Amino acid sequence: MTSRVSRRQLLLGGSALFAANALQSIPGGRIWSGLDLMQSAHAQDVIAKPDHIIRMNSNENPWGPSRVALRAIYSAIGEANLYSFYDNPLPKLIGSQQDIGADHISLGSGSAELLKVGGLLAGMRDGSIVIPHPTFEDLPAYAEANGTEVIRVPVDGDMRTDLEAMASAIRADTRLVYLCNPNNPIPNIIEKNALKDFIVEIARDRMVFLDEAYHEFVSNPDYSTMMDLVRNGQRNLIITRTASKIHGLAGLRVGFAFAHPELTREISSRQTGLQNIMGVRAAYASYQDEEHSKFVRRTARESLDIVESYLRSAGINHIKSDANFSFIETGHPIEQVQARFMAENIQIGRPFPPFTNWMRLSMAKPDEMRYFVQTWRKLYG
Ligand SMILES: Cc1ncc(COP(=O)(O)O)c(C=O)c1O
Repeated sequence: MTSRVSRRQLLLGGSALFAANALQSIPGGRIWSGLDLMQSAHAQDVIAKPDHIIRMNSNENPWGPSRVALRAIYSAIGEANLYSFYDNPLPKLIGSQQDIGADHISLGSGSAELLKVGGLLAGMRDGSIVIPHPTFEDLPAYAEANGTEVIRVPVDGDMRTDLEAMASAIRADTRLVYLCNPNNPIPNIIEKNALKDFIVEIARDRMVFLDEAYHEFVSNPDYSTMMDLVRNGQRNLIITRTASKIHGLAGLRVGFAFAHPELTREISSRQTGLQNIMGVRAAYASYQDEEHSKFVRRTARESLDIVESYLRSAGINHIKSDANFSFIETGHPIEQVQARFMAENIQIGRPFPPFTNWMRLSMAKPDEMRYFVQTWRKLYG
């Protein structure tokens, strides 16, 4: 199988390797990554520095779209002259998979667009929003830019979303409470019963926005999606998901909001974006391709095991991950750590105040994570 990847592709690195990998990421089969090949070429244990930067900074899917999604993208090129809103099959497909009416779904140009609409809706009602801190900042940053006050509630001593403190921080003028489950940059979950009670209580008087961007990666039995609440008619809850992560379609911008039809109508009326036709076709194919999702989930777990088992053995403080990224205490200002890893062709996450000594590390392919561990040992071991 090695012979299928030419020496030229190896030397070209980055994009050529990506293309080669996209074609060779056969679920259940042997996966050849660039590092794998370089390692075997050198026939030694030390993994050679790659000739391209490995992105471990944006929680992207390192494998790219599935083969069926790639095929759908290629054939959609011929439809590039068409608007995607005619006969868009996604709401019906996703609705049937989620056992929910298509009228309960708004499509977004990525879930980020829907997060921003959430921030906008809260701001239009002139009040504050409450969020955990740190968390994913797209919704609050957009709300803030539109003049809404954001009340940031620090995570607790175990770096978990502190629901009690958030409930106490809510004021009479609070229009929306944002939760991210699993959280980001801290990849831990909110316990399902506590979360459900919290949402039911808080949504009596105000909107709850629940971001489930990493839902598909979670295997923790204490976790549950809150989609049942939407199915059962909860009026003040928006849940978002994305095709960017497990489906590897971040560049094609497809996201979903699930909510009561009155709310999805309101969301749709405030949106500014539209899905592109390739994103729609790719997502339609990918959401029917369970093999790819399983493969991505399994390899993300394998990558986490490589990193977390090293961190445990070296006694390095970190959050046990319920997503496809890790959060690690480095003991150094993260800008310095970033620069040192960048010199080794590894791009790690940006600073996340107040945890400015902590590294958010997105899972790349397992061999790439072995190279990360080797690099950590070299720099800090
Ligand atoms: C928690 C969370 N929500 C939403 C998003 C936005 O994803 P997208 O706009 O690609 O759907 C991200 C992206 O990293 C994220 O981490």
